[in-house]
Amino acid sequence: MKKIRAAITGINAWVPDYVLTNQEIETMVDTNDEWITSRTGIKERRILKGEDQGTSVIGINAVKGLLAKTNTKAEDIDLIICATTTPDMQFPATGNLIADGVGAKNAFSYDLQAACSGFLYALTTGSQFIETGKYKKVIVVGADKMSSIIDYTDRATCIIFGDGGGAVLLEPTTEEFGIMDTIMKSDGSGAPYLHMKAGGSRRPATAETVAARQHYVYQEGSAVFKFAVTNMADVSAEIMERNNLQADDVAWLVPHQANKRIIDATANRMGVGEDKVMLNIHKFGNTTSGTIPLCLWEYEKQLKKGDNLILAAFGGGFTWGSIYVKWAYDPK
Ligand code: UT7
Repeated sequence: MKKIRAAITGINAWVPDYVLTNQEIETMVDTNDEWITSRTGIKERRILKGEDQGTSVIGINAVKGLLAKTNTKAEDIDLIICATTTPDMQFPATGNLIADGVGAKNAFSYDLQAACSGFLYALTTGSQFIETGKYKKVIVVGADKMSSIIDYTDRATCIIFGDGGGAVLLEPTTEEFGIMDTIMKSDGSGAPYLHMKAGGSRRPATAETVAARQHYVYQEGSAVFKFAVTNMADVSAEIMERNNLQADDVAWLVPHQANKRIIDATANRMGVGEDKVMLNIHKFGNTTSGTIPLCLWEYEKQLKKGDNLILAAFGGGFTWGSIYVKWAYDPK
C-alpha cells in the first residue's frame, strides 16, 4: 500500500487593521526607526485592539477564509489544532473557541504551545493524524496576540512583536506531495532566557506580580539570538542533507520571522539566495505562531506544485525545528 502523506491544500491568514509603526514606538520608548530597522528588519506590526478580543478572533477569521477559499464545509473538518502562546484564556483551549466560531461541529480541537516553533510543532502533529489514514481534513492554526503579553515600556521586546496568524488545511494524498520530513527539537534549559515570570502554576497572579510587571515576555535578546542563529541554521541544513536536497533544489526557505539577521544567517548556511527567502517581518514583526502561515499566505500566488519548501523556526523553550514540504498545488 502506498504511504499516505499530509498535503497542504489551502492556506489563509488574517491580521488586525491597526498598524503600529516604528515612528509610533519612538513616542513610547527610547528608540528610533534606524535602530529597529537595522537590528531587526521590522518597520511595523499589527495590533488587535478592542475589548475582549483574543487570539481566537485571529484564528476564526483565518479559518473562515480558509474554508471559503477551499470550498470546505465546516462540518467536514475532523480536527483543529491551534498553536498559540497567547490563548484567550488559561482554559478552555483557543482551538475549542475557534472550532465553535467557525461551526466545525464535528471536529475535536486542542491547543499546542511551543512558542515561536508552535506552528511547526502543530503541523508535525496534524500531519500524523492524516498519515494514519483515520482523519481526512485537519486544520492547523498558528496565531498569537503578542500585544497581550508585551511590556510597552520595555524597548528591548516591544519593538519586535505583533499580532496575527493563519491556518492551513491538511488532506491525505498518496502522491509525492505534502509534509515530506520533519525535525523537531526542544531544550528546556533555555527557559531562563525567554519566558513569562508569573501567571502560571509556579507563580500565580497576585497584586505583587502585576506591580512587578511579571506578566510580560522576559527575554535576554542577545543570548536567544546566538542560540537561534546556530540552531535554526543547523536544523535546516540537516533536513536538506537527509533528503538529498541541494540549494538549487529548494524553491523557498520559509523562516520564522524573529529577526532579519537570523533569517539571513539561516539562508547563508543553506546556500539559498535572498530571492528564495519568504520575508514579511518588515510588515508584521514577530507574530510567534503566526509568522510561517503569514508568509505562506502572502507568497501563495508564487508557489507551484512540486516546489520544495524548507520551513524553519526557533523560539522559547527553547524549541526549534524544520519541515520539508513539497507544495501540492499550482496558483488558483
Ligand atoms: O522569536 C523567537 C525568539 N526570539 C528571537 O529570536 C529574538 C532574538 N534576539 C534578537 O532579535 C536581538 O537580540 C534583539 C533585536 C532583541 C536585540 O538586538 P541586539 O543586537 O542583540 O541588541 P542587544 O540586546 O545586544 O543590545 C545592544 C544595545 C544595548 O545598549 P548598550 O548596553 O550597548 O548601551 C541595548 O540597551 O542596544 C540597546 N537597545 C536598544 N537601543 C535602541 C536594546 N533595544 C533597543 C531599542 N532601541 N529598541
